[in-house]
Amino acid sequence: MAVFMVILCFLFVLCICSALLRWNEVRYRKKGLPPGTMGWPVFGETTEFLKQGPNFMKNQRARYGSFFKSHILGCPTVVSMDPELNRYILMNEAKGLVPGYPQSMLDILGKCNIAAVHGSTHKYMRGSLLALINPTMIRDQILPKIDDFMRSHLSGWANQVINIQEKTKEMALLSSLKQIAGIESSSISEAFKTEFFKLVLGTLSLPIDLPGTNYRRGFQGRKNIICMLEQLIEERRASQEVHQDMLGCLLSDENRYKLSDEEIIDHIITILYSGYETVSTTSMMAVKYLHDHPKALEELRKEHLAIREKKRPEDPIDWNDLKSMRFTRAVIFETSRLATIVNGVLRKTTQDMELNGYLIPKGWRIYVYTREINYDSFLYPDPLTFNPWRWLDKSLESHNYCLIFGGGTRQCPGKELGIAEISTFLHYFVTRYRWEEVGGDKLTKFPRVEAPNGLHLRVSHLAN
Ligand code: HEM
Repeated sequence: MAVFMVILCFLFVLCICSALLRWNEVRYRKKGLPPGTMGWPVFGETTEFLKQGPNFMKNQRARYGSFFKSHILGCPTVVSMDPELNRYILMNEAKGLVPGYPQSMLDILGKCNIAAVHGSTHKYMRGSLLALINPTMIRDQILPKIDDFMRSHLSGWANQVINIQEKTKEMALLSSLKQIAGIESSSISEAFKTEFFKLVLGTLSLPIDLPGTNYRRGFQGRKNIICMLEQLIEERRASQEVHQDMLGCLLSDENRYKLSDEEIIDHIITILYSGYETVSTTSMMAVKYLHDHPKALEELRKEHLAIREKKRPEDPIDWNDLKSMRFTRAVIFETSRLATIVNGVLRKTTQDMELNGYLIPKGWRIYVYTREINYDSFLYPDPLTFNPWRWLDKSLESHNYCLIFGGGTRQCPGKELGIAEISTFLHYFVTRYRWEEVGGDKLTKFPRVEAPNGLHLRVSHLAN
């Protein structure tokens, strides 16, 4: 009897499970959809996706091809791993393939942030952003600030154990604050840092507005940052002083892009946010790879010592120096590729549409998954090896399938700025110090590249 009851219970649980598993399949059943599975109600296949990461994608691709449906992070999603199609999707926003970032991100970054606007508003906002960070601005205004910041941020690291993850995160945020509003390391930047870290966590949370949730804290961080920026704008207007920084340009009467205060604030938050994790993680991983590849470090150091030799110690890095850093640029690209700092980008459909011969219903997410192409042995022979030299052939950077900085109308406008920051950081790091890893620190690669307990280095003077 007991055995019979156990079997009955088992069959009952089995029926419930298979009914639940069918739920999403039935809910999203429509003729012409791409192949794939939809997983459990509400959660879909999120757990498998987060747990197995790239392997989940590879397994699904093996079963269903490079274009398959799933249900991840709360939304029905089509994953595209096809390089040609990925490029097509990024180049065709006007056909109704707009950014599809999570609600929490859009809420916390603001309704005027660049990922939340489309069409002519996007064009205008992007134009105004490019006016702040174009090559001329980098050369004349931003690079001197970056240099000044890096010199002091990277001083006094010798004879210490440092957590390079923490240092590069601080670097990315504080360097941007200096470029944006001349804010130096001080009490205001400390207050800003606290609120900004809350904001970042909030953008990666579930949009549940309850006390104690990261979403609520992120929103609070946003509100406090807005207060600080409003105060700064007020002070600038009252003082009538001319400031040579991004905020100065945004407030200038001569700026052809006229933005409201709300747009200016969301712009600043966007610049801080977009350059934060990308620049800090690439810098940290470059340090990691250089540590593990002494030949590459030697070549990089040679490039930077040659630049230093022609200068007095107090002379800053200038535009010509930056342009001469060919191997440094190659190290940055190789780091971004091998570590895959950005796994892909998200889009959503504004109407039912046909893509690759399949129907994609309105409102579905498309995950333009670019990770796999970074390990394509045709494009990058011996793809798992850190080999910056491959990037000395400039044509690789502009290859159609190289989407490290995105593509199409949303291609990263901060690419050259990010490269300038990381290059200047590497300049002062490798010309001042040598380092070894303390060892034992864990690195995770998915869904984000990070060292959960930090990446600790024992640093000493280069001359020692
Ligand atoms: C190594 C550094 C960086 C990497 C790897 C990177 C990567 C990317 C990628 C892949 C995209 C495309 C997103 C999409 O299509 O949805 C993007 C967009 C963007 N990036 Fe970067 N980025 C970096 C640095 C920066 C910096 C320093 C800034 C600062 C201004 C910045 C600002 C932006 C903005 C505003 C967008 C959105 C553009 C738009 O929607 O028109 N990025 N970035």
